[in-house]
Amino acid sequence: MSEFKKLVFSGVQPTGNLHLGNYLGAIRKFVALQDGNDCIYCVVDMHALTAQLVHDDLRGQIRSIAAAFIASGIDPVKNIVFNQSAVPQHAELAWIFNCVARIGWMNRMTQFKDKAGKDREQASLGLYAYPSLMAADILVYRGTHVPVGDDQKQHLELARDIAMKFNLDYAEHIRKAGYGIDITVGEEPVHAYFPMVEPLIDGPAPRVMSLRDGSKKMSKSDPSDLSRINLMDDADAISKKIRKAKTDPDGLPSEIDGLKGRPEADNLVGIYAALADKTKIDVLAEFGGQQFSVFKPALVDLAVNTLSPITGEMRRLMEDTSHIDAILKDGGERARARAEVTMNEVRDIVGFLG
Ligand code: TRP
Repeated sequence: MSEFKKLVFSGVQPTGNLHLGNYLGAIRKFVALQDGNDCIYCVVDMHALTAQLVHDDLRGQIRSIAAAFIASGIDPVKNIVFNQSAVPQHAELAWIFNCVARIGWMNRMTQFKDKAGKDREQASLGLYAYPSLMAADILVYRGTHVPVGDDQKQHLELARDIAMKFNLDYAEHIRKAGYGIDITVGEEPVHAYFPMVEPLIDGPAPRVMSLRDGSKKMSKSDPSDLSRINLMDDADAISKKIRKAKTDPDGLPSEIDGLKGRPEADNLVGIYAALADKTKIDVLAEFGGQQFSVFKPALVDLAVNTLSPITGEMRRLMEDTSHIDAILKDGGERARARAEVTMNEVRDIVGFLG
């Protein structure tokens, strides 16, 4: 028995401005994972067409995600940072996966149901096939570990189902060609070409909520810009938004139980904890009994100190985009070379000529 080489892959869609929730929930994890791992981070621009065909400034959006990666500390030399459409092998493998995946599997995807809304007949075929492209994104590099939010777990299960069916349906071809390795899945020995991808959802990822309504997730589509801290906000904007954040009249409790039924207070404490790399219990030990008039300025200081190096660097990178474009070009070339190794073998396995 052997194991696939560990490879971390993740993707972020270039739709809407990145905010604090994206940073704390995803990008910060990507940065931590680069130590000791082979990592590929992708701006999934092809996915951006699934829900909305025409975008005002898709190129700018792609660059700003890449800029956020770099500004947050992802090393594009040690790792690969690129945009999906630069590697057509993703789409090529996705087609094969469309033929592996069953309609019944796709019908179970809750994100499709949510995104398609009531009028499902009017959703794009791309939105329906989205999880199959996502599986291809990862498996074209034979990726093994995927840092994602909870909402993407079902898509990763689908990626495993696709990998498994491909491995089993083509088992003989895979063996004959001398590809693949022997792994165990559960208790079962399987000769596998594609690995079984695993989600990396470490701990309870901080759910960052709107600054205007603690019961709603911080979201790029919220009409109120005061509801979120954008990764392009400067220190003044960050400070203003935290000062104006909704709270209740009480002070902070000393115990975690005291946050129950106080979603706004809970959110601000959670944001403080995440930014300071502490637990909410630690934060309450420090601020319990204090008023928001004391806590908010402390949160402003912490947020500005932690975020302004990133937001400043992002703005700098977006002023002259040649540096970002060069990073994406180089990343695209290196990704393409790796994806082509897989696709050469996959074409051989399925029986295509050449
Ligand atoms: N579906 C992911 C999201 O909405 C984005 C994504 C596309 C992705 N391809 C991926 C994430 C591959 C991880 C791996 O967040």
